[in-house]
Amino acid sequence: MRSNAELIKERLSIAEVVSSYIKLEKAGGSFRARCPFHNEKTPSFYVSPTRNSFYCFGCEAKGDIFTFVERYEGVDFRGALKMLAEKAGIELVREDPKERDEREELFRVMEEAASYFKANLAAHPAPREYIMKRGLTEATLDSFRIGYALPEWRSLTEHLVRKGFPEALIEKAGLAKRATEGGDRVYDRFRGRIMFPLMDTSGRVIAFSGRVFDIPQGKEEPAKYINSPETPLFSKSKVLYGFDKAKEAIRKWSFAILVEGQMDLVMSHQAGYRNAVALSGTALTDEHVDQLLRLTDRLVLALDTDKAGIAAAGRSATLALRRGLDVKVALLSQGKDPADLIQADPELWKEAVKSAVHIVDYYLKIVLDKEKDERKRRLAVSATVLPYVALIAKPMDRAHFTARVAQAVHLPEDAVRQEVESFRAQPSALAPAVARAEEALRPHKEVLLHTLCSILWWLEGSQGRVEEAMDLKRRLLALAPEAASLGEDENLRNKLVFQAELLYAQVADLPQVINDLLLRLERESLRQAIDILRFNLTESERAGSTERTATLLEESRNAARRLSEIDARMQS
Ligand code: UTP
Ligand code: MN
Repeated sequence: MRSNAELIKERLSIAEVVSSYIKLEKAGGSFRARCPFHNEKTPSFYVSPTRNSFYCFGCEAKGDIFTFVERYEGVDFRGALKMLAEKAGIELVREDPKERDEREELFRVMEEAASYFKANLAAHPAPREYIMKRGLTEATLDSFRIGYALPEWRSLTEHLVRKGFPEALIEKAGLAKRATEGGDRVYDRFRGRIMFPLMDTSGRVIAFSGRVFDIPQGKEEPAKYINSPETPLFSKSKVLYGFDKAKEAIRKWSFAILVEGQMDLVMSHQAGYRNAVALSGTALTDEHVDQLLRLTDRLVLALDTDKAGIAAAGRSATLALRRGLDVKVALLSQGKDPADLIQADPELWKEAVKSAVHIVDYYLKIVLDKEKDERKRRLAVSATVLPYVALIAKPMDRAHFTARVAQAVHLPEDAVRQEVESFRAQPSALAPAVARAEEALRPHKEVLLHTLCSILWWLEGSQGRVEEAMDLKRRLLALAPEAASLGEDENLRNKLVFQAELLYAQVADLPQVINDLLLRLERESLRQAIDILRFNLTESERAGSTERTATLLEESRNAARRLSEIDARMQS
C-alpha cells in the first residue's frame, strides 16, 4: 500500500505548493525566487519541477513539498502532512498501529545481528589479527561491539531466520538485499567485512558500517566502506558515529572533535579522546550541528589534509561557523589520518588536538604560503579568508580575526573591517563569496571532478539520456575511480545536480563541453602523477637502485609525453 505522503506527492507538484506561498518566476526549465528561508536581495532559491524539489544556493535549504511546508509554517512532518493532505483533497488513513511494533522488531533484529557479527569475529583469527594489527585493543572491540560479516551469501540471513525473524524484516532493516526487484531470494548486504555498529543517542544499534576485508577473487576492488541504507531506524544525515559514547566527554571538555571515519573515531576514543564523533562518509549536516550544539559550541575538525580533506573541512566549517560554533582545525602531518597517527604514537594525536588553530588562521596560512606578492596576497585574502571571518557569529571573535588578517597583510584594520561588514550587511553577497572561497581553496582537480559528476548525475536523472550518461560514466571512472564514492554524499549530490541542471540544460554542444572537461581532468591527474614520480625518482636515485630508477624514468617520460599531447590539443 502506498503511504499518505506518497499519495499527496502524486497529487501536488512542488511548483504548485511553493507558489502558493511565494512568487516564482520562470528560469529555464526551473523556477526562481528570493529565498523565504534567509534574507536576500537577489534570488538564489530554485524549484525544479522535474526533480520535484527545491534548493537554495544561498543558505542550502532544500527538500520536497513536505520539507518546504515544515520550514515555512514551522510545523513538524505530521503537521505538514495534515496541511498538504487538505490541499490535495486526500483523507489521511490512520497509520497502522503495527508500525510502532515494527520499530521494536527492527531494533531487535539489529541487536541480534550485532551479536552475531561479534561472535564471528571471536571465532575467526584472520580479521581479528588484522584489527589487532591496526592497533585496537580487546576493550575497544568490546565497547564498540566491532564484529565480522562472513564472506558468504546468506550466513546472517539464515542465522536471523533461525532466530525467528522474517526475511521481509531483515530486508527492511537493511541487513539483506533482494537479488531482483520483487524476486523471492534475499542475500546478505554485508559480506567479508569488519563490522562497526552505529548507535542512536541512547546506544541502540540502528545501522552498520562495514569495512572491506575479504576481497572476492576476480572481482574489481569493492568499496572500502559500505553503510546500511536509509531505514525506518537510520537516516545517514542525522547520525554522528560515536555520539552516544562521546556525549559525556564533550560536555566535560566543552569541545567536540570531528573526525572522518570509523577507525579514526575508535582510535581517538582509545587514546583517551572520548569527545570525538565521526561523519562516516557524509558532510556535516544541520542535524549533526543541532546534536553538537546541545552539548558544546566549540568544534575541532580533524579531517584528512590530503585529497578532499581541505574542501571537506571547508564545507563543514562553513556550516558550523554559520550556526555559531567556534571552529578549529587540527593539523595532521601530511597524508596521515587520525587512526594512522594514533597507531604511530598517541602523543602525536594529543599534540595535533592541542595545537589546533582557528579555521581563519588555517586558511590565512594557506593563502600566505601560496602568494608571495603583497598585492596578490591581499586580493587572495579578501576573496578566500574574509568570507569566513564574516561568517563568524560572535562580534568579539569577528573583531579579533579582523585585526589578525589586517596585521597579516599589512593593511589598516578599518579597511578590513569595512570589507567584512559589507559582507554581513548583504547576506546575499556572503553566500556566493563563501562558495567561491571554498572553490578557490580546493585543488583544481577536485573542482573538475565535481563539475563532471554534476553533469553525470543530472544526465542519469534525465529522461532519454541514458546512453550519454553511460558513456560519460565510463570515461570519467577510467580517469578518476574516486568519482564513484562522491555520489554517496547526498548533500553534495543534491547541490551539484541542481547546479548542472541550471548550467547545462540549455547548452547546445554538451559533448564538446564534456570532452573539454575530461581533457582538463586528465591533465590535472597527469600533473599530480608526474609530481609523485619525480619524488620517487629522487628517492630511488638516492637509494642507488638503478632498475627502479630506469622504470620510473620511463614512466615519467610517458606521462610527460601524454601531457604535452593534451596541452597541444587544448590549444588547437
Ligand atoms: P578513507 O578512505 O579515508 O578510509 O575514508 P579510512 O577511514 O582511512 O579507512 P581505514 O583506516 O583504512 O579503515 C574515510 C571515511 O569515509 C567513509 C568511511 O566512513 C571512512 O572511514 N567511506 C570511505 C565510505 O563511506 N565509503 C567508502 O567507500 C570509503
Ligand atoms: Mn585510515
